[in-house]
Amino acid sequence: HRATAQAAGYRVVSVARARAGRQLSARLELAGAGRKPELGPDVQRLSLTARQSLQLTSLVRDAVIPSELLIGKKAFTYLVRRSIAFVFVLSFKFFETDSRLHVRITDADHQRWEVPQSVIPREAPRDVTLEASTGASPRSCVLSAATSDLTFTLHASPFRFTVSRRSSGDVLFDTSAALVFKNRYLELTTALPADRASLYGLGEHTKRTFRLQRNDTFTLWNADIAASNVDLNLYGSQPFYLDVRPAAGAAHGVLLLNSNGMDVEYGGSYLTYKVIGGVLDFYFFAGPAPLDVVDQYTQLIGRPAPMPYWSFGFHQCRYGYKNLADLEGVVAGYAKARIPLEVMWTDIDYMDAFKDFTLDPVNFPAGPMRQFVDRLHRNGQKYVVIIDPGINVNETYGTFVRGMQQDVFLKRNGTNYLGKVWPGYVYFPDFFNPRAVEFWAREIALFRRTLPVDGLWIDMNEISNFVDPAPLNALDNPPYRINNSGVRRPINNKTTPASAVHYGGVREYDAHNLFGFLEARATHGALLADTGRRPFVLSRSTFVGSGRYTAHWTGDNAATWDDLRYSINTMLSFGLFGIPMVGADICGFGGNTTEELCSRWIQLGAFYPFARDHSDIGTIRRELYLWELVARSARKALGLRYRLLPYMYTLMHEAHTTGAPIARPLFLSYPKDVATYGVDRQFLLGRGVLVSPVLEPGATTVDAYFPAGRWFSLFDYTLAVASATGKRVTLPAPADTVNVHVAGGNILPLQLPALTTSRARQTVFHLLVALDEDGSASGELFLDDGESPEMAGPRGEWSLVRFSCAAGRDGVTVRSHVVHNAYGPSRKLVIGKVMFLGLHSPAPPREFAVYVNGVKTANSMGGALGYQRSGALGTAQVEGLSLAVG
Ligand code: GLC
Repeated sequence: HRATAQAAGYRVVSVARARAGRQLSARLELAGAGRKPELGPDVQRLSLTARQSLQLTSLVRDAVIPSELLIGKKAFTYLVRRSIAFVFVLSFKFFETDSRLHVRITDADHQRWEVPQSVIPREAPRDVTLEASTGASPRSCVLSAATSDLTFTLHASPFRFTVSRRSSGDVLFDTSAALVFKNRYLELTTALPADRASLYGLGEHTKRTFRLQRNDTFTLWNADIAASNVDLNLYGSQPFYLDVRPAAGAAHGVLLLNSNGMDVEYGGSYLTYKVIGGVLDFYFFAGPAPLDVVDQYTQLIGRPAPMPYWSFGFHQCRYGYKNLADLEGVVAGYAKARIPLEVMWTDIDYMDAFKDFTLDPVNFPAGPMRQFVDRLHRNGQKYVVIIDPGINVNETYGTFVRGMQQDVFLKRNGTNYLGKVWPGYVYFPDFFNPRAVEFWAREIALFRRTLPVDGLWIDMNEISNFVDPAPLNALDNPPYRINNSGVRRPINNKTTPASAVHYGGVREYDAHNLFGFLEARATHGALLADTGRRPFVLSRSTFVGSGRYTAHWTGDNAATWDDLRYSINTMLSFGLFGIPMVGADICGFGGNTTEELCSRWIQLGAFYPFARDHSDIGTIRRELYLWELVARSARKALGLRYRLLPYMYTLMHEAHTTGAPIARPLFLSYPKDVATYGVDRQFLLGRGVLVSPVLEPGATTVDAYFPAGRWFSLFDYTLAVASATGKRVTLPAPADTVNVHVAGGNILPLQLPALTTSRARQTVFHLLVALDEDGSASGELFLDDGESPEMAGPRGEWSLVRFSCAAGRDGVTVRSHVVHNAYGPSRKLVIGKVMFLGLHSPAPPREFAVYVNGVKTANSMGGALGYQRSGALGTAQVEGLSLAVG
């Protein structure tokens, strides 16, 4: 302002700045007879002319910039090089938190569609003091905050902005190419250092690799396209990526918060967004550790919902179970084969003519079905069924009649939009409408009076539609065709039309990708209200933030070795998206599986966070007891999973409180090991349990990568690898065996295997202490009842215990530190056995000392039971230690 005034011929007498809360004002006292400059006293809104924008640098040089900077009309016309259909405001919401930078580009004069606050609540930007300085290039200005590692640079001519990491100088995002902002087309490109950026994310797609490959394209438009299709847009939209830079292993995340259809093109040295609506609303997450990024990301989009303890058991499903006797046969088959079965599922077969909330009176009659579910419950098992969004248009169907009375359905052209799915003609509940949310909850509650299901599976919610809606207006046919289905199909293809209108005038064109999210939220709310317990919802369609409400499975894969392998990529991606409860259909959904494939699949699937066997109607059956080899693999792999349940459930707590995925790519634990960046045939559970499955037919070995350190087999506790650097190792992998190792440095809480999680929970706890080279290890255990709505809430009954161990030549000290202690049963927690792997001592350590909250306990033992040596290292086992919580 001072510069403008001076340029207009004034002399500046004084400058005063005042600050009141988030408001900043400046007063210039001018003298002289210049031309009247257009100076507003409100610095919140810098209305710059084109010429003034070039003086941006001088304007902001000594100023304290408010948290939002608006550059007015003319300026932007000038700044953007091409294709301006209309003029808009640049709005930079800087540094919302120390680790988050927000850049939002929208229209100055017209309201545009944005992801509603009700979907992703955005807090008002914090009042951060920004420092402004002249950038390296003449017409640029750098904005930074002392507390943030991210800096933002605005370059005036040609217009571009960059986001950099202050500590390393690394440019993270650079909108070097033209920026386009039209009504139905937005384009932005960021330059990337091709050889130094490893990108992950941007879903949902089945990818051949977890890391993005040059020339990968990602279309985001929720569609009922089978997951067996590589590289096509699938069920969900997740416009988020994580970028890891080598050497330091510093990572950052980038979210484009936009629900419109888009193509994202990755060229190795650039990433281009081509979006057909909304605004350019970018969030940058500073990291620098990859786990920090997920933490910062889920802080914005919402933490993953806690999942009930039982949902970590094994699930069996199939499309095509004929009748109740069929279901009973499967449950009995598992019991007879002594393979764990926690949850029995039923697909659309149970419904009367595929109508939601009904039961087929002949094959799945209400009375006997109720008894069946009661029996499952008495046996500690659970029951889950599918529901689809389409409500059959049928005057004799109560759900439909009530839906009509309450006027809850999606509209087009003033009437309910008529689609077609399994039951024939349907209307779709419009979950933007609060009445539809109530309607849904009421139908679920009513149905649960007939059949008290424990969770719900919501499918077909992209929304899938068996008819192609004819275009009605321009929305059905936008000027830019996203690469829908890989062949630029119209956006209406096999879904609800873009010209449909939701409650409040929301256009399907904008909100299409939100349907699954909204349905998951409504279903979660309905179950919570009806049961008072922690809901379990499994949704096929997702959007940013869906993890707050739902688990996800990867959809219709095929029973192929490729899809076995690719399932790891999708699972790991969803971990980054804040949806850690994820898995693929074990043994493959479509087509006929084989004994060998199914065997290898349960060996991998036993370690999916969500482990469900599911198959398509008309294909051969694949329950785990049907083949001898599969049954053996299942007993082994699921046996280990059930022993690990306390560990996995503790990971659920970590996910819920920090966003950390349950199944993780190796670089999350080893970001400095560049060799881990491309590993996608193995993954970690939590910090240090490494799963190395066989992914090829005929193989009897597996090539596995082990980051530096010690790795012990979780099956026989032998030391498999000890190396100061990362190492590739060929491991034996006989037909019924999967390789699972724990890294030295970890303490795993274990229990004994059982056929249900509730039985496993009644067994004694063990601690597996895998020592690192320095003789130390740590771990934790979270405990609650597994079904209270909150996990680790302020009033909740839960306990968290941290364990650490230090082992020297003379003795071994185990400490348990009780962080929180409000879960009644945990007061009696006794660790029945502690196993130490990797002791250096040549003879049994003289003393095992145990401290509980700093106090040495009486039961510290003078010697070890069962001390064994193999090579230079010893393994000890101590029984009867009390690491009591209370
Ligand atoms: C969809 C689902 C699949 C289900 C089938 C029948 O294809 O993805 O899991 O079995 O519909 O409901």
